[in-house]
Amino acid sequence: MCGIIGYSGVENSVPKLIEGLKALEYRGYDSAGIAVFTENGISVVKSKGRIANIEKILDTEYPNLESVCGIGHTRWATHGEPSDRNSHPHGTDRIRLVHNGIIENYIQLKKELSACGYSFESDTDTEIASKLIDLNYKTSGDPIKAIKSTVKKLEGSYALGIIFDKYPGKIFAARKDSPLIVALSENGNFIASDIPAVLKHTNRYYQLEQGEIAIVEKDKVTVYDEFGSVANKEVLTADWDVGSAEKGGYEHFMLKEINEEPLAIVNTIRPRIKDGLPCLDLPHLSDEAIKAFKRVSIVACGTAMHAGFIGRTAIETLARIPVKVEIASEFRYRNPILDKEDLVIIISQSGETADSLAALRLSKERGAHTLAIVNVAGSSIAREADSTLYTWAGPEIAVASTKAYTVQISLMYLIATKFALCNGRITKDKAKEYLHTLLTLSPVAVENALVLSAECAKISEKIKNAEHLFYIGRGIDYDIAQEASLKLKEISYIHSEAYAAGEMKHGTISLITDGVPVIAVCTQDHLVEKMISNIKEVKARGAFVLIICKENMQIDKEVADEVLKIPVLSDLFMPIPAMTVLQLVAYHTSVIRGCDVDKPRNLAKSVTVE
Ligand code: F6R
Repeated sequence: MCGIIGYSGVENSVPKLIEGLKALEYRGYDSAGIAVFTENGISVVKSKGRIANIEKILDTEYPNLESVCGIGHTRWATHGEPSDRNSHPHGTDRIRLVHNGIIENYIQLKKELSACGYSFESDTDTEIASKLIDLNYKTSGDPIKAIKSTVKKLEGSYALGIIFDKYPGKIFAARKDSPLIVALSENGNFIASDIPAVLKHTNRYYQLEQGEIAIVEKDKVTVYDEFGSVANKEVLTADWDVGSAEKGGYEHFMLKEINEEPLAIVNTIRPRIKDGLPCLDLPHLSDEAIKAFKRVSIVACGTAMHAGFIGRTAIETLARIPVKVEIASEFRYRNPILDKEDLVIIISQSGETADSLAALRLSKERGAHTLAIVNVAGSSIAREADSTLYTWAGPEIAVASTKAYTVQISLMYLIATKFALCNGRITKDKAKEYLHTLLTLSPVAVENALVLSAECAKISEKIKNAEHLFYIGRGIDYDIAQEASLKLKEISYIHSEAYAAGEMKHGTISLITDGVPVIAVCTQDHLVEKMISNIKEVKARGAFVLIICKENMQIDKEVADEVLKIPVLSDLFMPIPAMTVLQLVAYHTSVIRGCDVDKPRNLAKSVTVE
């Protein structure tokens, strides 16, 4: 989703804004722009397309542009097509504004502004907010008053970075339900949507809270709370280093991040095992509290929701508590039945996904205990949940989630083991055995899965021209199939579907014709025979069958066109190495097809609108 950067300091802001925007590219965008103070007022450069377009305009039309203060934006279109005129910053000669979020009542506000004589150049909700600030600024002459009276009228979500012509060197910022940080450095201060945008300069930052307004200057930051008093802010330190947000020799962030999975598992799990047993260290989730839960709901979106499927299988298998997995955007409008006997687990890499955040708030309102599994420290979901477990995967830059998924499912196994112990369903020895698999054996299995990269590329060669493709599996293999299918379609643009293997013959098998690839995930000993029957059904109808199975499984040659054997763990934990391999298949297919692996079309990393 949109990315915001702003800098006020002693150095030229233009390269800093461009570099910050590039660091935010991973969020997904289709246009970009900057606005900086110059001797002749505020200069704006904006363009549809990549940031390189802005650089070209700067080189040719503004070769000497220098400024110590400015704001920048990458736009992911919501209201109005990607175009120069819809790109941010928006505003007037008096004020310029960048915005992340959605102003829901913009049509009503537009009518009111039209009545005051305003006209509009773009189709965006953002322009309406900028003109409303302009109107209030014209009336009061005071930026803070103008922002306050504007945000009072805005419905929806926003993170705003604003500059006012008469206040050079000052950036004003405000937020509600969209992320924004203020970062502090020796040579100036920043606003940004996310930490990677400023990591080259600093790792010290403030998290801007709901309703706060910040004034960022070169040597000072002042933050006002929603009542207008100066807020006493805690300086946070990001423990991500610059290298972690760079490619480090890999061709793509996605490949780098897949290769980081073994370390990410260790970093996330090791601190949570004491004397071989799970230790969640969550004050509000005592063993007694865990025992009292009658039901668990796992709520999330996309890949994070698929991690929830593995969580469901793990918790139900080990702890025998009923678990539902729900799509956050459905859950929030479904009037869910919840009370204090429910645990709601919200899984989110970014911690800012609008639907997941709304689901969290609804669950709290209804009295459920909320547990967040989040990768980004200090994000909204992490802060608002009753209990939070961080995944320590480091920054995930590629839009397609890989290592974040791997650590999300790793934490699900840890939680399942903890719950099973609390419920007396397993012995301490059994818990130790599971955690040994999780912490010691699974990173090695992933290392060995990474070695299969060339084999995965061969599979990609076989499927690269497919128009449609199916992943099939049973039980936890179906859980895997769903994530594998999403991964492939989002970055290679091949249409794919995941099917419960036994369900194909109830309709969908009519789509199997000569050569349609079917990737069968087959990692569960107790289901292998049933899978083979289902594989034969599609093979008999012409499917090109690829089987992903455990190294130690014997598969009859006639059943499949290709077999890829993967490292072995005990069956419940097989999703860990299996997904690494299937992520690599998706990755290589995307590369072979010449797609933009790290920034697939139409997608955004952090989905802060519903
Ligand atoms: C796909 C992907 C998305 C996210 C989803 C939720 O690779 O990354 O499906 O998983 O948008 O995002 P978070 O985890 O940030 O809540």
